[in-house]
Amino acid sequence: MKEIFVDLGTDSYNITIDNGILNQVGTLISKVITPRKAIVVTDNIVAPLYGKIVLDSLSECRFDVKLVSLALGEEQKTLSKAEELYEHLFDHEMDRKSLIVALGGGVLGDLAGFVAATFMRGIPFVQIPTTLLAHVDSSIGGKVAVNHPRGKNMIGCFYQPKAVFIDTDTLRTLPKAEITAGMVEVMKYGMIKDADFFEYIDKHLPEILALDPDALEEIIYNSCKTKASVVELDETEQGVRAILNYGHTIGHALEALTSYKKYRHGDAVAMGMIYVSKIARAMNLADDTVLKRQESLFLKLGLSLKDTELNPHDIVSKLYQDKKTIAGKLRFVLPTRIGNVIIDDSVSDKTILNALTE
Ligand SMILES: NC(=O)c1ccc[n+]([C@@H]2O[C@H](COP(=O)([O-])OP(=O)(O)OC[C@H]3O[C@@H](n4cnc5c(N)ncnc54)[C@H](O)[C@@H]3O)[C@@H](O)[C@H]2O)c1
Ligand SMILES: [Zn+2]
Repeated sequence: MKEIFVDLGTDSYNITIDNGILNQVGTLISKVITPRKAIVVTDNIVAPLYGKIVLDSLSECRFDVKLVSLALGEEQKTLSKAEELYEHLFDHEMDRKSLIVALGGGVLGDLAGFVAATFMRGIPFVQIPTTLLAHVDSSIGGKVAVNHPRGKNMIGCFYQPKAVFIDTDTLRTLPKAEITAGMVEVMKYGMIKDADFFEYIDKHLPEILALDPDALEEIIYNSCKTKASVVELDETEQGVRAILNYGHTIGHALEALTSYKKYRHGDAVAMGMIYVSKIARAMNLADDTVLKRQESLFLKLGLSLKDTELNPHDIVSKLYQDKKTIAGKLRFVLPTRIGNVIIDDSVSDKTILNALTE
């Protein structure tokens, strides 16, 4: 078992990582929050896999708990789905002290966290993430949101969970493509802050993809540790937290231009990481090995890195519509070497276009 303390003053919490802890979550949660009325929120795919084990564990520890399973996907991460969940909270007579337990992937965690943040001006919640992306990214850091027809994650706030419990065994039922998508975020942490970790991933990829428990614990622990350290410095993304968006600026544009249908998030971010590495190379910030090492790891993951359909000019236009664009300036996270990035808003449209068409 590994633990990470996320130091955010009065909003601090622990991340616990281990295999086979779902049947102990009742005990673990009751160490942080005294037993009370609670709802386990999950989706229709995760409910039959892990709903009962979590529900039973909480009941055994004297939580007055009910399971709510939602039909959910990225298209349903909406305000109307949040309203559906508020109804369940009222039906179960939840009050300001009651607890929400979010059991699922990033979509479920973002939605349940948003509802926890807004129901009666905020009630406690804990995260039990069940996808690799949720283990290493969405369950930590307190960004909660729903989508709006005008854009992804446009309605939301910062609201930290009381604890995060990561059971690496949950990855055994996850489709392979979801593991690959999560691995892109794992690689991101190596790229932005930790060259040794990048080497570890490169060397141990077969064990990781075979879901070896020690390898999984290692990559999840390192990823969470890096994310936590960045969030501690800049909880509400005023500055340095932006490095977590490495690969995401262009990645988001690719996703948006294809209406979120063609690419998985991880696939689009991988392409984004390649494009910004080309930009960094063109600006003499990074050498060719930075690009080549990422490309080689992506290929080992089985990702295809070419977009042949989109017009590069459309991609650049889309970049200017991103919510992270500040005063009309594009902000890029550029690698200088494996394990280090800088934030730069001086990249010219011509350099971007060259990287996209190369
Ligand atoms: N809050 C943040 O900081 C943050 C960061 C990154 C991403 N996100 C958000 O996360 C979302 C993507 O999350 P995701 O990649 O986890 O996708 P997801 O939540 O859609 O899960 C992918 C699929 O896997 C299923 N699933 C979940 N756990 C499973 C398991 N253990 N076994 C079998 N199937 C399982 C889900 O039902 C779903 O069908 C996006 O909405 C994105 O905006 C948020
Ligand atoms: Zn991401």
